[in-house]
Amino acid sequence: MTVSTLHQTPLQEKVIKLKEEKNAVILAHFYQEPEIQEVADFIGDSLELARKAAETTADIILFAGVHFMAETAKILNPSKKVLLPDLQAGCSLADSCPPEAFRELKRQYSNHVVVTYINCSAEIKTLSDIVCTSSNAEKIINSIPEDQPIIFAPDKNLGKYLIEKTGRKMLLWDGACIVHEAFSLDKLLELYKQHPTAQIIAHPESESHILKVANYIGSTSGMLNYVKSSEHDTFIVATEAGILHQMQKDVPHKTLIPAPAKEDNTCACSECAFMKMNTLQKLYNCLEKENPEINLPPEMMEKALVPIQRMLSLS
Ligand code: 13P
Ligand code: SF4
Repeated sequence: MTVSTLHQTPLQEKVIKLKEEKNAVILAHFYQEPEIQEVADFIGDSLELARKAAETTADIILFAGVHFMAETAKILNPSKKVLLPDLQAGCSLADSCPPEAFRELKRQYSNHVVVTYINCSAEIKTLSDIVCTSSNAEKIINSIPEDQPIIFAPDKNLGKYLIEKTGRKMLLWDGACIVHEAFSLDKLLELYKQHPTAQIIAHPESESHILKVANYIGSTSGMLNYVKSSEHDTFIVATEAGILHQMQKDVPHKTLIPAPAKEDNTCACSECAFMKMNTLQKLYNCLEKENPEINLPPEMMEKALVPIQRMLSLS
């Protein structure tokens, strides 16, 4: 999705000018702050951003997202400069899967094919046979011969959803997204009672009791497309609140209600603290100084590229 550059603030104008001078491209995830989304050349879900990173001709990729996404962009472009405004912008899923423990699991189940969700570190990708994102995971699992046992890591919620969708038995890593695990089923059903004509839409990183009551399950882009094409006019949205910015722009006359979190009645708990570490000011500073930069050992990039390319050629 490309972005218009109308009505920018002075800082946004400075970012846009600088990126043009430096032949940089800004790739932003839907969970970024609206003011960052508005200066991006492209906003998308994890798969779309990986595709854009693979095809860019820019000299610099400024990644407005989290660390594993910028790493993926670097692996796809080892000779380009890849910048991330805040190196601390991690991910609970990536953090849940330390390479040593994962190596040990692989050793124990050496006849298993390893499918990893893109939300993992570059080192975990070097231990993977194929990578997937939330928008192509079902297709990737279905591409694997039926008698082939599978390890799926690191998201157990997405893994459980895939087991149900594909009927495949998979050994699941015990990781989860702290944002998508925060939704409260009781509060969601209470909200639904107040809006009985609403459609509940959910990201597959959510827990199975949330997915069970959802009318639509899909990636962030999948959810956007569903809301755009649906005849319904009210949606309860169970994913990170950043998506609401683009969604409301796409469907200005529809009503979008953030799904409630367990701990709080506001949508604050459905914000990813990692994604929100990036600010527009950090984005500008990073582009100006060309730092922080993502750097990875060349052998690691070579190995991690193989399962990413398998995914891209399958999806
Ligand atoms: P998608 O971008 O694939 O929808 O994944 C959402 C997410 O949690 C990214 O970290
Ligand atoms: Fe990771 Fe969840 Fe944040 Fe996405 S929303 S970056 S999966 S912690």
